[in-house]
Amino acid sequence: MKHILLNVFKGRVVSPWWILLIDLVLAANAYVIAFVLRLNFQVTEYTFLDFFATGSWVILIYLTFFMIYKSYKGVIRHTNYTELKLLMLACFTAFSFSYAVNRVAIMYDFGWMITSGLVLIFHFIFTLVFTFLFRVLVKETYVLLTKKKNNVNVVIYGASDLGLITLEALKNDRETNYNVVGFADDNPTKWNINLHSIPVSSWSKVLKMGDRKGINCVILAISNISTPQKYKIADECLKRNWQLKVMPSVGNWINGISNQGQIRNIRIEDLLGRDEIKLSQMKIMEGLEGKTLLISGAAGSIGSEIVRQVLKFPVKKVLMVDQAESALYELQQELLLSYYDAPFDVIIADITNVRRMEALFEKHKPDVVFNAAAYKHVPLMEKFPFEAIRVNIGGTKLLADLSIKHNVEKFVMVSTDKAVNPTNVMGATKRICEIYIQAQAQKEYISTSFITTRFGNVLGSNGSVVPLFKKQIERGGPVTVTDPDITRYFMTIPEACQLVLEAGFTSKGGEIFVFDMGEPVRISDLAKKMIRLAGLSLGEDIDIVYTGLRPGEKKYEELLASKENTLPTHHEKIMIGKVRQLNIDRVEKQVGDLLLYLNMESEELLVMRMKEIVPEFISQNSEFSALDRNPIKKKIVD
Ligand SMILES: NC(=O)c1ccc[n+]([C@@H]2O[C@H](COP(=O)([O-])OP(=O)(O)OC[C@H]3O[C@@H](n4cnc5c(N)ncnc54)[C@H](O)[C@@H]3O)[C@@H](O)[C@H]2O)c1
Repeated sequence: MKHILLNVFKGRVVSPWWILLIDLVLAANAYVIAFVLRLNFQVTEYTFLDFFATGSWVILIYLTFFMIYKSYKGVIRHTNYTELKLLMLACFTAFSFSYAVNRVAIMYDFGWMITSGLVLIFHFIFTLVFTFLFRVLVKETYVLLTKKKNNVNVVIYGASDLGLITLEALKNDRETNYNVVGFADDNPTKWNINLHSIPVSSWSKVLKMGDRKGINCVILAISNISTPQKYKIADECLKRNWQLKVMPSVGNWINGISNQGQIRNIRIEDLLGRDEIKLSQMKIMEGLEGKTLLISGAAGSIGSEIVRQVLKFPVKKVLMVDQAESALYELQQELLLSYYDAPFDVIIADITNVRRMEALFEKHKPDVVFNAAAYKHVPLMEKFPFEAIRVNIGGTKLLADLSIKHNVEKFVMVSTDKAVNPTNVMGATKRICEIYIQAQAQKEYISTSFITTRFGNVLGSNGSVVPLFKKQIERGGPVTVTDPDITRYFMTIPEACQLVLEAGFTSKGGEIFVFDMGEPVRISDLAKKMIRLAGLSLGEDIDIVYTGLRPGEKKYEELLASKENTLPTHHEKIMIGKVRQLNIDRVEKQVGDLLLYLNMESEELLVMRMKEIVPEFISQNSEFSALDRNPIKKKIVD
């Protein structure tokens, strides 16, 4: 029986004409009952005919109003308040009309039409109750038959609009039976009230009643929650083996639609991201409005996020330059979905190709250049210094030179904390880029304003620990960490890129901006937290293996922004790095020579040249460490 009913429900929606027919049969039955009741169950042959004559025109009126209000058109199993309201309206107007017709019939003595006013009132009430109950019955039967297998007892953290949207989304989930046992909220005025018959209480009370209520999932549905608070909630949930999920705030919904699919598991990025960054929207708007932007490395983690952020402003055009064809194609597809009419252009090009870059500047005349194209992997660049110099230094120099030549207003260079007292080739190339950019900024006769932004690791970027750990956890481990004590500073990609924009458009020019990276994170702790977030237990389901520091890798990253080496700015998270005045000619000669001899000299000589430009570059854990003591140094200096 259940099977047959399920098939009925699973099948296509029943035709509305059937619903109309059922409503009419119910209305006719209601008339019989009303009539019989009115006659105190004394039905005679005479009254039976009378019933037939009067009943026909009354039902005809109900039919007319059901059709006018289309009260039979909704899908019965999904009947909602609006549809019930329509049904009520249809019945009430039909009743009022019947009543009026009956009065006229009495007035003009149309004997066969006349019925009792009480019958009409009873009929109205019964019709309403029957048609209403019919809908409730179908709806409840549907719920019963399609009862979901998985039962999850949920607490929604946030008793506001987002919480209510989450509740609605959970109700419509087809797979899982989400039983929302309560709302948690930090606002005491909301405690001890009910929302949709669900109690609201404090988070501490939720923690106390957790076992009793069998809670096994918490959904964060609150947009203005601080990261430390999120971190604390995550810890408390993990301790109790509760799943922790997030309902993103409205602005972050995929396709802008509210549904259960928006609710996702909490990610490590959610726990390490810091409080929302307040941007000088007006300044950024002024800097971007009507401008043509060239973003190099646009397909990369940083470049692509800069693209997403700037497209929120009324720019004239965004030129997305990258040599990685597939990654650029994917970004293009993503942007076409979310910003389909945005003014962007995809350009596949190598930033070290002089002719291509010349032509690009000539054709598009960019106003602002963001340079985020680079080779960034420390161990790989330690192996291939030639490539690191060619792309990072050569590419940056070419873009900077062309920016001056074509009177670009602003050149924003994306640098890294690895450029501070570099211990590897990659960091040293970025420091040389910084030096070159700074030297250009010192020139007085140019109209380009040069800005450098320097920050530490961003969470989840291509090739960084988070995606690596994710993959390792998915494969069942082990999770590899180089050293138990290794720490890194982290910020999320959107945070970093927002700060790049803020620094870029609130600066005078010539500064190296350093971002506040918060507290350093121990990588082994990060791995442990990710393992727990994946619902696994360390040592039982998965192991962490320590593999030893890699070439050029530091155990502790330099503190980017200390009081001694930086000056504050208008923004609490942005500092200006103190830098020494450079000798422009000397810098240009040294960088020019490095690139000039790129194809002629050995890698040792090239690295030696870098050490000359950046005297604080001391290789660590690298084959180039020998150079720091080697007489080869003399050869070049001489
Ligand atoms: N990812 C981080 O954690 C982080 C932190 C601080 C600073 N940075 C800096 O940000 C910059 C970008 O890093 P990312 O994480 O976005 O790296 P990424 O590898 O994701 O992106 C770099 C992009 O540059 C492109 N590219 C490389 N060489 C090119 C060339 N010759 N011509 C055109 N395009 C080229 C690549 O194809 C890639 O799409 C780097 O300078 C890096 O040092 C990154």
